[in-house]
Amino acid sequence: MRLGLPALVAFFVLPAAAQPDPATAKANALLAQLTLEEKIGQISQFFAFPGMPIDDAVKTGRVGSLLFVTDPKEINRLQDLAAQSRLRIPLIFGFDVIHGFRTIFPVPLGMAASWDPALVEGAQAIAAKEARAVGIHWSFAPMVDIARDPRWGRIVEGAGEDPYLGAAIARAQVKGFQGDHIGADHVLACVKHFAGYGAAEGGRDYDASNIADTQLWNVHLPPFRAAVQAGVGSVMSAYMDLNDVPATGNRWLMHDVLRQSWGFKGFVVSDADAVKSLVPHGFARDGADAALRALHAGINMEMTFGPGDYAKTLASSVEAGRVSVGQIDDAVRPILEAKVRLGLFDTAKVDEARAARVLAAPEHRVAARVAAERSAVLLRNEGSLLPLRPTAHTKLAVIGPLADAPYDQLGSWAFLGDGAETVTVLAGIRAKLGAQGAVEFAQGVQIRRTTPSIFDILKRYKDPEPWSEAQAAEELAKAVAAARRADVAVLVLGELQYMSGEQASRSSLDLPGRQQELLEAVVATGTPVVLVLVNGRPLNIAWASRHVPAILEAWFPGTQGGAAVASLLFGEANPGGKLPITWPKHVGQVPIYYSHNLTQKHEDQAKRYWDDPSEPLYAFGHGLSYAKFAVSALALNRSELAQGAMSRGQQIEISVDVENTGTVAGDEVVQLYVHQRAGSASRPIRELKGFERVSLAPREKKTVRFALGADELRYWSGALRRFVLEPETFDVWVGTDSKASLHGSFKLVPD
Ligand code: BGC
Repeated sequence: MRLGLPALVAFFVLPAAAQPDPATAKANALLAQLTLEEKIGQISQFFAFPGMPIDDAVKTGRVGSLLFVTDPKEINRLQDLAAQSRLRIPLIFGFDVIHGFRTIFPVPLGMAASWDPALVEGAQAIAAKEARAVGIHWSFAPMVDIARDPRWGRIVEGAGEDPYLGAAIARAQVKGFQGDHIGADHVLACVKHFAGYGAAEGGRDYDASNIADTQLWNVHLPPFRAAVQAGVGSVMSAYMDLNDVPATGNRWLMHDVLRQSWGFKGFVVSDADAVKSLVPHGFARDGADAALRALHAGINMEMTFGPGDYAKTLASSVEAGRVSVGQIDDAVRPILEAKVRLGLFDTAKVDEARAARVLAAPEHRVAARVAAERSAVLLRNEGSLLPLRPTAHTKLAVIGPLADAPYDQLGSWAFLGDGAETVTVLAGIRAKLGAQGAVEFAQGVQIRRTTPSIFDILKRYKDPEPWSEAQAAEELAKAVAAARRADVAVLVLGELQYMSGEQASRSSLDLPGRQQELLEAVVATGTPVVLVLVNGRPLNIAWASRHVPAILEAWFPGTQGGAAVASLLFGEANPGGKLPITWPKHVGQVPIYYSHNLTQKHEDQAKRYWDDPSEPLYAFGHGLSYAKFAVSALALNRSELAQGAMSRGQQIEISVDVENTGTVAGDEVVQLYVHQRAGSASRPIRELKGFERVSLAPREKKTVRFALGADELRYWSGALRRFVLEPETFDVWVGTDSKASLHGSFKLVPD
């Protein structure tokens, strides 16, 4: 037989190019053998708390995924049961590995305050390694919801208010969890909550979001798109209505945007019982309708507390011809592909002895300390009270309900975090001062949530008995007396573990309980006060910002938080974090964010309320250091660029010099902001479009370079209803917070 050139090409090239992906091939082979009931099992995910009767469902292939099992022995037992099912398809175990698994890192809002994507990536790589060691394959993170209302409790779980910073942190988390490809120490990431959850009305958790198209495309969607571009393997749908269409039944979101426009190839899981809640939303008529509408919208897997609507109704809907087997297959396929890519068909079980070695490994604890140091934000340091000097400050009073509260400082979503392994602020300071110093501790006040939290049942500690009135007065007096005796008082105030997080919205931003009273009483002693905040949202510290010389925002800093705070207070580490969120003066200013539109003359901006200025207490991007920095020599490589050239990939390059003019080494986050002066729609007063955290020795100077291209400058125009890159004049500012004043400009000119 003679083969011509085309045939030869077809023989050598085409077969290779047309090779189906091995994961898809395996998934298709399984689909050919699965019964309808087993297929529905693969798209059903159940919570599996101890004692729940799930064995039978696992053995018969009626469930494909479980969440909330964290014990490697139990995971192995369940995988053995799954191996007894007809086609021996392993289970995929999911869990909320949000900011660490056993070694707890600072909460995500804190990690974002590091402005250090490499740090974030490294932390999630450690979290993945610990989770995978016990047999968990799938993390329900990153949470990338943009939030501009600190009343919303879940603001703590995201990267704050800004889409550009949010996208950078989202990418870093996906890379940390999944690696370049999902290896034995990685887990599948799940970007959530798609989409718009952060805009819940009034900051009330789960409340409806009404988001204009412009805000969706320009503010809320970019971090999701970044996660998809970084290869995120799964997506979780949000609970709430987005512009009257529940996210979990929203085909425009799940199909048109996610799959068609962004090319997402993984699978979508509903949030817990979000399919069932399509009925109370007033969207679906009943459970069967809810399942059909979620499936049709593009929800591959239903996460549910009990038998879900997928499990209960989809088989009859297939029989009744309301949904085809082909549609069910399409939902199952990417889930099976993920199981193949995770290597579960090769090794589903884990080595329990190895798991014990990996959890809380010494190097993980070091990484958690460094992360807490790099996340902290020095909000104020009048008269350079900080850093403390062990020679001058030998008598310390450490005061407050968060000073020695190991679980509380872990923040929410830290179920495996162990109080016994946690270094509190008090312990950190005691260790740092050693024998030379005297540290007196007084709790001062007791704080409590006035309503229970849904997470109370998962707590590994018992809440203390409430103090009587007399005891409360006595404890407050003890704290004041301790402050009087001290050279310096370190007040550790803020929120308990479940005062921030899911179902932890607040109508006030005041320091909970009688903490403000404690603060004022301690300040009144005349002893210099350092306020350390342990919390998950900006709180009302307007009084403190006038009367307390030093304020350090530690967030919920995690397992090693106390060691980190102590290093920062004594200057062994230098604060370099920056606010990823605008800090309001009080709740009346929210929602508040730097990137707003200018709707009147600039000088009138500050006068929008007659009873108070509308400026925030601390600007987005703000954060001090023990070093001093000068940013200078802003230069643009050109003042004009043709619009078409930029569309084809050319960029405006911007450089500045940053110098440490202080006497100690430190970090500065150099930030680039952009404003488009005119166009088819009004543009925000300024938007972050570049940043870099640099470390500098005293007198050291570095040049920082940024590039602005089409990705940074295009936006969704509300007038034209599409993304545009417009030939206009652009302002740029570079500096050390969102008030940056070093200014330049350039023009995009028509071709
Ligand atoms: C939360 C999700 C979480 C899920 C599983 C839900 O209530 O909204 O963020 O991943 O529970 O724990």
